[in-house]
Amino acid sequence: MSASLSFKIEKDFITRFQKKPSLFVAPARINLIGEHIDYNEGFVMPAAIDRHFVFAINASGNDKCNIYADDFKEGVSFSLNDLNPGEAWINYLMGMLDAFQRKGILKGGVDCVFGGNIPSGAGMSSSAALCCGFGFALNQLYDLGLDRLTIAQMAQYSEHEFAGVNCGIMDQYACMFGEEHSAILLDCRKLTHEVLPFKLIDHSLLLIDTKVKHSLGTSAYNNRREACEIGLGIVKKKHVEVISLRDVTRVMLYGQQDKMGEEIFVKCLFVVEEIDRAQKAGVLVKQQDFAGLGELMYQAHWGLSQAYDVSCEELDFLVMLAEEDKNAVIGSRMMGGGFGGCTINIVSKQQEEVFKEKVRQKYFTTFKIEPEFYSVKLSKGVHSEPRT
Ligand code: GLA
Repeated sequence: MSASLSFKIEKDFITRFQKKPSLFVAPARINLIGEHIDYNEGFVMPAAIDRHFVFAINASGNDKCNIYADDFKEGVSFSLNDLNPGEAWINYLMGMLDAFQRKGILKGGVDCVFGGNIPSGAGMSSSAALCCGFGFALNQLYDLGLDRLTIAQMAQYSEHEFAGVNCGIMDQYACMFGEEHSAILLDCRKLTHEVLPFKLIDHSLLLIDTKVKHSLGTSAYNNRREACEIGLGIVKKKHVEVISLRDVTRVMLYGQQDKMGEEIFVKCLFVVEEIDRAQKAGVLVKQQDFAGLGELMYQAHWGLSQAYDVSCEELDFLVMLAEEDKNAVIGSRMMGGGFGGCTINIVSKQQEEVFKEKVRQKYFTTFKIEPEFYSVKLSKGVHSEPRT
């Protein structure tokens, strides 16, 4: 955790509010495998990383919330009686406050300064970090006794109701439950997880940011969820025992193919296969077989691109460059919702610089955009931080 970031946020809080705050840290997440699976109740393998928001917070003493976003150099004040979906970052925090209000447990407003080092729009789920960190801070500040899963679910509510993204639970869960040097294998039906120690020795985890975010993101995301629901509805008519795509086998799906139409069928088949891959990946990571995991990551990418149709030219280009050097980049795929953001890569430490240079040159020549590289370490989930 960057001590200088905590120091800066704490100092800013003291200058603005003339009192001492409590400090909380909320990480971004990566996902190794299991994409677009959480809302189908399958398995996913995310991890919290060493990019985060720091929150400095204290009670305001009345029903007002006075919040300053250091990254945007922008402050907002509002009453707890006036929580409505609005603009950008404040949406997420208002959504969180609304979730607390609905439970009837909030004891008052807050003064808060927050800021961080999570690149926004890069698909590392800064929004989940924002909601989970703020929710955790409120819970601690007012001693409300909520558990981590409840806060993750309230953060998901905030995204649904205030940001209009019908997301699954993966990002919020990873942010709350992540552990150092480990990924987690999350069962999105039971909402339980296994901690998987992730000990790369000769390789590192490298995110490559396409620096593009195609605008169809939110609507296309919601639309993929609908496609899964339509497919599920058709399978259910024949197989009443089925609850989600998690329960659907290839045989069941092929049996209903003619009733579904090509587009729905292809998307549902991707989901069934990706759930399978994530479970296999769980076994491989337990054996520290990263080459095996990497192979599944490549397969997942081309499924996301060609079948689920959530990739884009820039992401596909980066994965193709990785695939040309498979001895150096043992796994690569788009990460998160899609339509831009980052690829996640497992790269040989020895060959990392050469690979980055190739990517920099070829990506720039093709798209006239400088890609950005982030080396990430697996870190612990939301936690309080001693004052600096
Ligand atoms: C976004 C959503 C998650 C998940 C991923 C795709 O990050 O917030 O719930 O669905 O996309 O795996």
